[in-house]
Amino acid sequence: MLRTQTSLSTWSQKIHMKWLVLLGLVAFSECIVKIPLRRVKTMRNAISGKNTLNNILKEHAYRLPQISFRGSNLTHPLRNIRDLFYVGNITIGTPPQEFQVIFDTGSSDLWVASIFCNSSSCAAHVRFRHHQSSTFRPTNKTFRITYGSGRMKGVVVHDTVRIGDLVSTDQPFGLCLKDSGFKGIPFDGILGLSYPNKTFSGAFPIFDKLKNEGAISEPVFAFYLSKDEQEGSVVMFGGVDHRYYEGELNWVPLIEAGDWIIHMDRISMKRTVIACSDGCEALVHTGTSHIEGPGRLVNNIHRLIRTRPFDSKHYVSCFATKYLPSITFIINGIKYPMTARAYIFKDSRGRCYSAFKENTVRTSRETWILGDAFLRRYFSVFDRGNDRIGLAQAV
Ligand SMILES: *[C@@H]1O[C@H](CO)[C@@H](O)[C@H](O)[C@H]1NC(C)=O
Ligand SMILES: *[C@@H]1O[C@H](CO)[C@@H](O)[C@H](O)[C@H]1NC(C)=O
Ligand SMILES: *[C@@H]1O[C@H](CO)[C@@H](O)[C@H](O)[C@H]1NC(C)=O
Ligand SMILES: *[C@@H]1O[C@H](CO)[C@@H](O)[C@H](O)[C@H]1NC(C)=O
Ligand SMILES: *[C@@H]1O[C@H](CO)[C@@H](O)[C@H](O)[C@H]1NC(C)=O
Repeated sequence: MLRTQTSLSTWSQKIHMKWLVLLGLVAFSECIVKIPLRRVKTMRNAISGKNTLNNILKEHAYRLPQISFRGSNLTHPLRNIRDLFYVGNITIGTPPQEFQVIFDTGSSDLWVASIFCNSSSCAAHVRFRHHQSSTFRPTNKTFRITYGSGRMKGVVVHDTVRIGDLVSTDQPFGLCLKDSGFKGIPFDGILGLSYPNKTFSGAFPIFDKLKNEGAISEPVFAFYLSKDEQEGSVVMFGGVDHRYYEGELNWVPLIEAGDWIIHMDRISMKRTVIACSDGCEALVHTGTSHIEGPGRLVNNIHRLIRTRPFDSKHYVSCFATKYLPSITFIINGIKYPMTARAYIFKDSRGRCYSAFKENTVRTSRETWILGDAFLRRYFSVFDRGNDRIGLAQAV
């Protein structure tokens, strides 16, 4: 739901952007953001064997700083809403106004609603009162964002944004003035944690700004998403706390810097390949509750686990969680099994339904979205310094 849509126009924008990035500039509709030119990782391009690549990534990896105590100011609590959304508090302005946002790895913009947004969905949430903030700075830039079926437009503004003790002064972000398709959402805004060249507003992302200002020791963040419990989930910045996972972190290089997308080898059930048979792409996405894939393949999985479709969900007997086999995602040669209990959700009325869902966004290659259902089982580290993702069994 929260993934920014990869429509034809954004693809062409992407291609267009590539050329501009080469010039050291990313131009967006109404604003220009300077992005420092980064050297392409020639090593990654030159070596094709996966194992060799893995070894090299291992050798060249810096030591991840371990956050050694849970009360660290860089470990930020998230609240689990029915295993569907994980929201955390941020504040904006002086004096601070508090918002509950989704920390989303599928997008790069930060936005909240403006007090001037009068739609019923805006009015149901905390809205930013810019006139009550002494550090607020307006601009004349406007933006539009599409997330699946949600759309919004507004203006880019600047103010002090705080994530716990992390402070970004004069942080650009979006103020939503008009929206549609956001009815009933349990959060006030979204904080995008993807790469800067994915922004729709052109505003420099908060993670990049904090990174450039040296507010975090290493350019990494990580998620631990709790199961069932409202409390206990965290997003951590600048390092990882090893007490949130078991065993080693397995590193997977991104297909391309610029999106949290990795290569997946296959998806299997009882040693039979059931999807991704020729390899596919996987977006590691904290802003999606489900596991999404191409309709035909998701239907096949639903046939295998014998679901009954009703009202856009695919129901299954709750008893089935006891005997249905695991579904295994194989990434970089490593197996990431999900038990039936992990891929079957329970709704508020106690009915059970599949965590698999059709991805309605058309992509040229087979693409899966590993959302919260997967990330509850696997602790995830997003390493901007090495353009890779680390996965390990969550505690
Ligand atoms: C966010 O703030 C509200 C009130 O200020 C508090 O009740 C809630 O527990 C906070 N959420 C998290 C995840 O800390
Ligand atoms: C929202 O409502 C206020 C008064 O209730 C009005 O002044 C303002 O112009 C409205 N904004 C929009 C965008 O309609
Ligand atoms: C916005 O544009 C108007 C006129 O086009 C200009 O007077 C004003 O200074 C601009 N404001 C900002 C914050 O750039
Ligand atoms: C975290 O807390 C320590 C000690 O309280 C402080 O020195 C440090 O500046 C804080 N870091 C951030 C990013 O606020
Ligand atoms: C996005 O930015 C990264 C560097 O941060 C760059 O390597 C990548 O090529 C860019 N992607 C696109 C599509 O422009």
